[in-house]
Amino acid sequence: MLPNIDFTSTQSYKYLTDHYIDIVSKSLKELFETDNQRFEKFSLQFEDILVDYSKNRVDEQTLALLQQLARECGVNKAIEAMYSGEKINVTEDRPVLHIALRNRSNTPILVDGKDVIPDVNRVLDHMKEFTEAIISGSWTGYTGKAITDVVNIGIGGSDLGPVMVTEALKAYKNHLTMHFVSNVDGTHIVETLKKVDPETTLFLIASKTFTTQETMGNAHSARDWFIKNGGKDEDVAKHFAALSTNSEGVAKFGIDTKNMFEFWDWVGGRYSLWSAIGLSISLSIGFDNFAALLDGAHAMDNHFKDAPLEQNIPAILALIGIWHNNFFEAETEAILPYDQYMHRFAAYFQQGDMESNGKHVDRNGKHVDYQTGPVIWGEPGTNGQHAFYQLIHQGTKLIPCDFIAPAQSHNPLGEHHNMLLSNFFAQTEALMNGKSEEEVIAELKKAGKSDEEIKKIAPFKIFEGNRPTNSILVKKITPRTLGSLIAMYEHKIFVQGIIWNIYSFDQWGVELGKQLAGKILPELKDDAEVTSHDSSTNGLINQYKAWR
Ligand code: F6P
Repeated sequence: MLPNIDFTSTQSYKYLTDHYIDIVSKSLKELFETDNQRFEKFSLQFEDILVDYSKNRVDEQTLALLQQLARECGVNKAIEAMYSGEKINVTEDRPVLHIALRNRSNTPILVDGKDVIPDVNRVLDHMKEFTEAIISGSWTGYTGKAITDVVNIGIGGSDLGPVMVTEALKAYKNHLTMHFVSNVDGTHIVETLKKVDPETTLFLIASKTFTTQETMGNAHSARDWFIKNGGKDEDVAKHFAALSTNSEGVAKFGIDTKNMFEFWDWVGGRYSLWSAIGLSISLSIGFDNFAALLDGAHAMDNHFKDAPLEQNIPAILALIGIWHNNFFEAETEAILPYDQYMHRFAAYFQQGDMESNGKHVDRNGKHVDYQTGPVIWGEPGTNGQHAFYQLIHQGTKLIPCDFIAPAQSHNPLGEHHNMLLSNFFAQTEALMNGKSEEEVIAELKKAGKSDEEIKKIAPFKIFEGNRPTNSILVKKITPRTLGSLIAMYEHKIFVQGIIWNIYSFDQWGVELGKQLAGKILPELKDDAEVTSHDSSTNGLINQYKAWR
């Protein structure tokens, strides 16, 4: 059972409310000036990942109180409940066991009395064998040619994880060309099919439920295209595989269940890249690299389970996030990777975080009277610097940021990496220190400006600073370090959900739109006037019918 505690009624929350008044009057600059050990005190290293959280508006007391909050909210108990396979996804009556998918130590994890690890390993063996056959060319298409292109058809967790990881690990790529189709907009599949040859293309239909409208629509169109372009019904087996929990749905679609890679209902869609849903990753970078990704995640899982709260990286990041969200009233968090390969990392955690903790009902079924999950967004540096950083530096909103960068580039090229990293270091320094009026005046004087000019222009050049950031410096983005990083964020989300007393592993919020779309679709089949909705929806539908 998960604990059920209103965190705002805890002792530590009350202390934190008082302590906030203390901290809010101090600037980050001051905190650094008065304590030259901040970096040593407020940074942790896990394998090849250094997490520096010293540039946040916290001191030792803040962290001690936040850790007390985690204790009072039963975070340790909740971790134990997840790892032992308890049905902590209460509203769907399921355990939450993405950690089992990467349990490389093979310690048994029981679901309804049965160890799930042998099944996990069986599917991994199947993925390995299949991956090797495709990469080596021993698996051939219906005309005897080897596979050259893989099209993953999925959406949400059945797309974002594979896309993010295959992009982040592009440096490890083999000869197979990967394509990802997610949007039900016909453009997505049409444009993709223009690039591939039916004789040498493998389609992976990735859907946990095998009922998702977008994925099924795209899968049927891909199958029709395959048949129209030379394939026969009996050839589908060589060109279509399914990644799913729904064997009936897979068989009904016409995919041989021998080509089905199974996973289980205790894997959440947004936590599924470690499961059969990761087959496109394995095909793109080879099974050994996929296994290294799992190893890295498993190492972080062990850290999360075993490290005390004072040294527990995901827990510390979660607590600092709560400090910003519930005390500083920050509405959003930016994830800013200084690594072009990681350009989908923020998009991935948009789903990971917002689908998990975007909830306003607590574990008693009551409307919360505090803020829960933040809006997650971000783009890679340095591009973002020339787009939205202005607002982060000088806007009216507080935006805590995670800066992520590798020390070693996969593409060392002249001074490029030093230039990139100089920006990475400069941004967090600038966000922290800002630029005072005195500094601005001195700078303008040095530039030969008159007193009058200085008076006019100075206010616009002042930076308040005091903007909080985490810096996550990774030795190199490898399958292992990436696995650890993803798991780190997953566990951060978990801890926050526990403290906010919400259920992080369902997603009922996506249902309403799906249901209504299902109701409207038949109304679009003919040209009859629609009158069954509100005037806006009727008006829009009828104009669509007039224009289409
Ligand atoms: O968007 C809702 C959702 O259920 C996600 O949680 C999930 O990742 C996605 O749809 C795709 O679902 P499926 O893998 O079942 O097609």
